[in-house]
Amino acid sequence: MIQVFRGSLLFFTSDPLQDGDAAYQWIEDGLLWVGESGLIERVGAYEQLAGLLIEQQTEQQIQLLDYRGKILLPGFVDCHIHYPQTEMIAAYGTQLLDWLQTHTFPVESRFSDYDYGVSIAERFVTELLRNGTTTALVFGTVHPQSVEAFFSVAQQHRLRMIAGKVMMDRHAPESVLDTAETSYHESKALIEKWHGVDRLSYAVTPRFAPTSTPAQLHMAGRLLAEFPDVYLHTHLSENVDELAWVQSLFPDSEHYLDVYDQAGLLGSRSIFAHGIHLCDDECQRLASSDSVLAHCPSSNLFLGSGLFNLKKMDDYGIRVGIGSDVGGGSSFSAFDSLADAYKIQQLQHHNLDPFRALYLATLGGAKALSLDNKIGSFQPGMEADFIVMDPQATDFLAFRTAHCHNLKETLFVLNTLGDDRVIAATYILGQLAHQRDSHHVPQGEN
Ligand code: GUN
Ligand code: FE
Repeated sequence: MIQVFRGSLLFFTSDPLQDGDAAYQWIEDGLLWVGESGLIERVGAYEQLAGLLIEQQTEQQIQLLDYRGKILLPGFVDCHIHYPQTEMIAAYGTQLLDWLQTHTFPVESRFSDYDYGVSIAERFVTELLRNGTTTALVFGTVHPQSVEAFFSVAQQHRLRMIAGKVMMDRHAPESVLDTAETSYHESKALIEKWHGVDRLSYAVTPRFAPTSTPAQLHMAGRLLAEFPDVYLHTHLSENVDELAWVQSLFPDSEHYLDVYDQAGLLGSRSIFAHGIHLCDDECQRLASSDSVLAHCPSSNLFLGSGLFNLKKMDDYGIRVGIGSDVGGGSSFSAFDSLADAYKIQQLQHHNLDPFRALYLATLGGAKALSLDNKIGSFQPGMEADFIVMDPQATDFLAFRTAHCHNLKETLFVLNTLGDDRVIAATYILGQLAHQRDSHHVPQGEN
């Protein structure tokens, strides 16, 4: 059945950094028209499309869902997250390298069990949808079963997801290690089975330089050469102790990024999480190779990693997406990430305006993942993954947003104070996938 959603529509067509207010469209009383296939067919003002709607209603069944007073926005894109770390979010007391040994590796060792992986993947997907995140770039564990479990669950929910098996052949407990050779074969088998199936894509996923031998990093490069349209997903320059460790493990490399560069891992489908402590040459190389950074504000604060310099990355022209980095990050909510991103820029005397922030969490994320022809905006032919934001989600938000004077203020308040309660509903391919108040069903008019 065709579904037509009425409400305020907000979506980006380009980056506000370049195009300012021309980068977004705000249609106060709009219609989002979704075809049977789950793709967007029409987008426009109610006034303009109402005639067509009435005309078409005489010919076919059309369901009109009334979300007036709420804001329809493309679903959030999370450019860096670990599904196996769902159960260890908010683990106390350590910074990156200790945190990995103390909290992360013991938890990840459980994912040799496929059924366990499925149960955590289900919980993970529930949290994503509850928070309005419809696409993510996801770490599994070293065990291929962990990725089998995740892709199976994502497929059942018809989600657009990118994931991969961790490659890790040193400096961790035996239970979470593979070898250069096995990581190559296991990754290859997963690519052949899952990449391009439904809405799923594969990311070759060496954990980070310290836990891979040079031989394993070269295997990752070999996979990218053999499968040019898979992604590369890893961590880069997150923590100063990590930097020193990388320097001592790879004395022949010019800097951290050079370790990956020497293995052939840079490119337009390569996403590097963090990138906090980068030198100018690294920024230059990221830009010239069209590689991507996933900025993970919540994680950078929680693990005490440092302050990401968004302005500098913008000046270099590096594509940036936003990642929650759960469980290093302490929230699934894009609002928490955007609120933290704002504060991180404030500490550096830079600004992050709410339009740019929401761009980064939607179309910017889609561009970061080279998916902007499919998701991240409201254009005919794009996949109808979207959220319904409720500026009056709580009594206090209703009070606070009533004191906003324009859209920019309202969006900033939502970014800063918002949480999962602001997500009244999440739609995947035009189908309801999460509803905040299950007792509240939007009024169908026919
Ligand atoms: N660096 C290597 N592994 C990890 C991880 O699991 N989380 C984060 N935040 N950084 C990492
Ligand atoms: Fe991470």
